[in-house]
Amino acid sequence: MKTPVRVAVTGAAGQIGYSLLFRIASGEMLGKDQPVILQLLELPMEKAQAALKGVIMELEDCAFPLLAGVVGTDDPEVAFKDADIALLVGARPRGPGMERKDLLLENAKIFTAQGAALNKVASRDVKVLVVGNPANTNAYIAMKSAPDLPAKNFTAMLRLDHNRALSQLAEKAGVPVGDIEGLVVWGNHSPTMYPDYRFATAGGRKLKELVNDETWNRETFIPKVGKRGAAIIEARGLSSAASAANAAIDHIRDWVLGSNGKWVTMGVPSDGSYGIPEGVIYGVPVITQDGEYTVVKDVEIDEYSRQMMDRTLAELEEERSGVAHLLG
Ligand code: NAD
Ligand code: LMR
Repeated sequence: MKTPVRVAVTGAAGQIGYSLLFRIASGEMLGKDQPVILQLLELPMEKAQAALKGVIMELEDCAFPLLAGVVGTDDPEVAFKDADIALLVGARPRGPGMERKDLLLENAKIFTAQGAALNKVASRDVKVLVVGNPANTNAYIAMKSAPDLPAKNFTAMLRLDHNRALSQLAEKAGVPVGDIEGLVVWGNHSPTMYPDYRFATAGGRKLKELVNDETWNRETFIPKVGKRGAAIIEARGLSSAASAANAAIDHIRDWVLGSNGKWVTMGVPSDGSYGIPEGVIYGVPVITQDGEYTVVKDVEIDEYSRQMMDRTLAELEEERSGVAHLLG
C-alpha cells in the first residue's frame, strides 16, 4: 500500500467541494492505488462548519477504501499541515453592489492568509491549484505570500476553459473530443482569455483545415468560451460546479501523473517567455511528466494572437496593481 497523499481543499462545503471530494476519495484524481487524507477547510461560521460536518459524514458513508483519513477545520494551518496538494476553492463571491475592485481586495485578504499558512506548514513540494476567483490573481497573491515555497508550485485553473474550448471545437469540426491535441487557452480566467487552436490537430489532421472559418473563430468560438462561465450562471442560477470540479481533477491528475505528451493549459507563474512579465500567473500550454510541468516554448505568435494575449495580460496587470499595496 502506498503512503497516503494529503490533499487540502478549501471551501470544502461549497458547490464545487461537493462535486470534488467524492471523486478525489474514489481515486479519480491520483489513481486507484493511491490512498488520500482529505484536510478540509471551511469558514468558522456555524452554518459553514455544520455543512462541512455533513459532507464529512457522507464521505464516511461511502466507505471509500482509498480514504485514509478526513480532517475538518476552520484553521488554515490545520488544513494545510504537511499538505502535498492544496486545492484553494473557497473564495469570497461577488455580492450585490460589489465592484470588481472590492472583490479583488476581499479575496486578497483570504489568499494572503492562506499563502502564509501554506508557507508555514505545507509540504515543501506542495502543488497548489487556485480555483476560487479571480483565480489567477488569487494564485499570484498566495504565491507572493509564501516566499519559502517554490513559485512554480502555485497554479491557477484554466483547465475548465481548456475543456470548454475542446468541446466547442470537437462539435464544430465533427471530431471526437479526445482526439484533439495542441490547444491552449492563454491568459486570465476571465472573458479576456484567448482560446487558440492554430496548432491543434485531431487524429493527425489540422483543426484549422477542418474548421476553415476565421469569422467563426473570432466572432463565435473565442467569445463563447470566454463567456461560458456567465452563460452557466445565467442558465443555472449558480456558477459551474461539476465541470469546475472535473477540471480541477484533470489539472492535478495531469500534473501528478503526466499528460502523456499532450498540451494542457495551466495558469503558471511566467518565466518571462511570450513577453509575459515574470511572475504573472498566465494560462500557457504545458506538458506534464513525473510531477513537473514544462511550458511549451516554441509556439509562434502572430499579430492577432499578440493582440489577444496582450489584452488579457493588461487585465492581469491591472488586477496585480490593484493588490500590490497588500503584498509588501
Ligand atoms: P460556493 O459559494 O458554493 O462555495 C464556496 C465555499 O467556500 C463556501 O462554502 C464558503 O463558506 C467557503 N469559503 C469562503 N471563504 C473561505 C475561506 N476564506 N476559507 C475557507 N472556505 C471559504 O462556491 P463554488 O461554486 O464552490 O465556487 C467556489 C469558487 O470557485 C468561486 O470563487 C467561483 O467563482 C470559483 N470558480 C472558478 C472556476 C474556474 O474555472 N477557475 C470555475 C467555477 C467556479
Ligand atoms: C466559470 O468559469 O464557470 C466561473 O469562473 C464563473 C464564476 O464567475 O464563478
